[in-house]
Amino acid sequence: MKTRMTELMGTEYPIMQGGMQWVGRAELASAVSNAGALGTLTGLTQPTPEDLAKEIKRCQDMTDKPFAVNLTILPAITPPPYEEYAQAIAEGGVKIIETAGRNPKPFMPMFHEHGMKVIHKCTAVRHAVSAQNAGVDAVSIDGVECAGHPGEDNITNFLLLPLAAKALDIPFLASGGIGNGQGLAAALALGADGINMGTRFMATKEAPVHDNVKQAMVDASELDTAHIMKTVNNTMRVFKNSVAEKVLEIEAEPGETEFENLRPYVAGARGRVVFETGDMEHGVWTAGIVLGLIYDIPSCEELVQRIMQECNDTITSRLSGLLSQ
Ligand SMILES: Cc1cc2nc3c(=O)[nH]c(=O)nc-3n(C[C@H](O)[C@H](O)[C@H](O)COP(=O)(O)O)c2cc1C
Repeated sequence: MKTRMTELMGTEYPIMQGGMQWVGRAELASAVSNAGALGTLTGLTQPTPEDLAKEIKRCQDMTDKPFAVNLTILPAITPPPYEEYAQAIAEGGVKIIETAGRNPKPFMPMFHEHGMKVIHKCTAVRHAVSAQNAGVDAVSIDGVECAGHPGEDNITNFLLLPLAAKALDIPFLASGGIGNGQGLAAALALGADGINMGTRFMATKEAPVHDNVKQAMVDASELDTAHIMKTVNNTMRVFKNSVAEKVLEIEAEPGETEFENLRPYVAGARGRVVFETGDMEHGVWTAGIVLGLIYDIPSCEELVQRIMQECNDTITSRLSGLLSQ
């Protein structure tokens, strides 16, 4: 399939695996890229820029296809050395970067000097327009369905995508709530040039997370996530386990929520332990409502092929069938 995004990403299929903290390692990124989609390493999963440079090299040894690196730029009391991470990505010969969080404008000259394409992930059309004005090559739009940070607008992809199509000249990916080929066909119908998936790629053979996590995803339904941290304006969709329930309980207490009271429960390091040990109640971990559409743990190759087949069938049989009646 050819779209503006397959051209930009240099892939066979219009499918990207978005950056995932603690999950986006070379095993997954290379498997997705080898399957003809775009795999992504997560920059900040590596403790230092030097470690990221090594991980990029490891991924290059595992695939000769293009892959991206995600750089999530968030305000922090002691921020990671973002410039050095960006430098490691550019100097590692990576040709596609997925930026998220802050507008990537300050980094654009450096990325473009290295001949890189920038896909900025955002959660609102106004942010997508400002990223376009900053010179990014494409955007990826996360609807409220998505895992992780959906922003505070609560708009679904059914609205976001046609609004983005109207407002943008650059190509864009639909992201959030997509797990099969019907979703890809719908995203294309709504004006997107392809899809970005996180949660669905986590329940694959190659994803470097404990089997308990993958099985929990198969067993879960679309009702098993929760929006936490809404009260502190930093909404995050996570798997609804006992730690998430505790956070919701604190947030429901009368008066303003102090982030300090949530901090011990929401620490990213605790989520990492869930992924590594399979202790499902150790911390909060991110997942989207697309859990409702996850029934198995295929390889990335099987998943990508299935999605393309379903998309093809949806367009050629179901949709054209309706027209020819
Ligand atoms: C476990 C996990 C960790 C994630 N970490 C990040 C991250 O560090 N940076 C980022 O930009 N997006 C992150 N995301 C969001 C994904 O890149 C993607 O935008 C999102 O998962 C799309 O929604 P979906 O899960 O419904 O497919 C994460 C998603 C998951 C499931």
